[in-house]
Amino acid sequence: MAGRKRAAVIGAGLMGHGIAQVFAEKGWHVSLTDVDEAILARACQAIRANLALLAENGIGRAEDVAPALGRIKTTLRLEEAAAEADLVIEAVAEQLDLKQELFRKLDAMCPSGTILATNTSVISITEIAAKAENRHRIVGAHFWNPPYLVPLVEVVPGVDTSPEVVDSLYDALKKAGKHPVKVRRDVPGFVGNRLQHALWREAISIVDQGIADAATVDEVIKNGFGIRLPVLGPLETADMVGLDLTLQIHDYILRHLDRSTEPAPILRDKVARGDLGFKTGRGFQDWSEEGIERCRKQLLEHLIAWTRHSHDSP
Ligand code: NAI
Repeated sequence: MAGRKRAAVIGAGLMGHGIAQVFAEKGWHVSLTDVDEAILARACQAIRANLALLAENGIGRAEDVAPALGRIKTTLRLEEAAAEADLVIEAVAEQLDLKQELFRKLDAMCPSGTILATNTSVISITEIAAKAENRHRIVGAHFWNPPYLVPLVEVVPGVDTSPEVVDSLYDALKKAGKHPVKVRRDVPGFVGNRLQHALWREAISIVDQGIADAATVDEVIKNGFGIRLPVLGPLETADMVGLDLTLQIHDYILRHLDRSTEPAPILRDKVARGDLGFKTGRGFQDWSEEGIERCRKQLLEHLIAWTRHSHDSP
């Protein structure tokens, strides 16, 4: 994709608008499409607000906001969005049949050199590509929310994806200021969500068994090993403490950890009761409007401070 800088983002929801912003900020022309005009309008407002907030906080410049917005065009027509794109990133709902059909259509309508990427969180890339003819150009590009502040993108090949497509996407993401990593093999959940949901399974199981309440579980993580994670991953930590100690701990502990292949009963019960978390004011904990607002604000401030710190660091 050297020298070419046209992206199309399919789906302008939570992830799609943020992904469009990432590329527009770095000088790409972005065509953003959705099935709903109101969502496209909201997406543009959100991008404008995000860019302004970043500039206020010294990430990017105020004078670059309008040009970045000017590089984003919206359309309800998939063909129009995809027609001239060098890179298409799909960010529609997490439904296999919807994604399969979309990639079949995109493959039929896009020029042969266009890379077709999906932002699926956990679904197999190979399955998503199954109905398309040119499966070598279909690849996973798994961003994290919010995509304009979290650097990681997992680049995931399906069984038919060509190595050139993986390399080309990786380079484009790097140039767009992201931190891409190559996952070697297409497995559900890739790397990040396998790790994240292994932790969530155990966290929920601890609450389900009455070992600690939800607030305490989160306190343990946020005030304990969670503080180390930005500078020391678990495998680095294992090396630091010694693999002999790690082996002794695993010999003892692993049989006591949750190994269920089904969601925990407590999670099913809460969802059945309509306790969905922020959406309804009650989940694992009770949430007031102020509490929800405070939590969102804290997260954004933390991510902005982290981004500023990483820009300042050599
Ligand atoms: P969302 O529901 O906020 O946005 C999806 C958008 O796709 C909606 O605006 C919808 O109108 C649009 N859409 C549906 N069918 C369409 C079609 N045929 N053509 C064009 N647009 C269409 O969902 P969200 O959270 O942005 O997720 C999108 C994808 O990103 C999913 O695959 C999800 O698993 C993945 N993802 C989500 C993350 C998150 O934290 N929410 C993180 C990483 C990946």
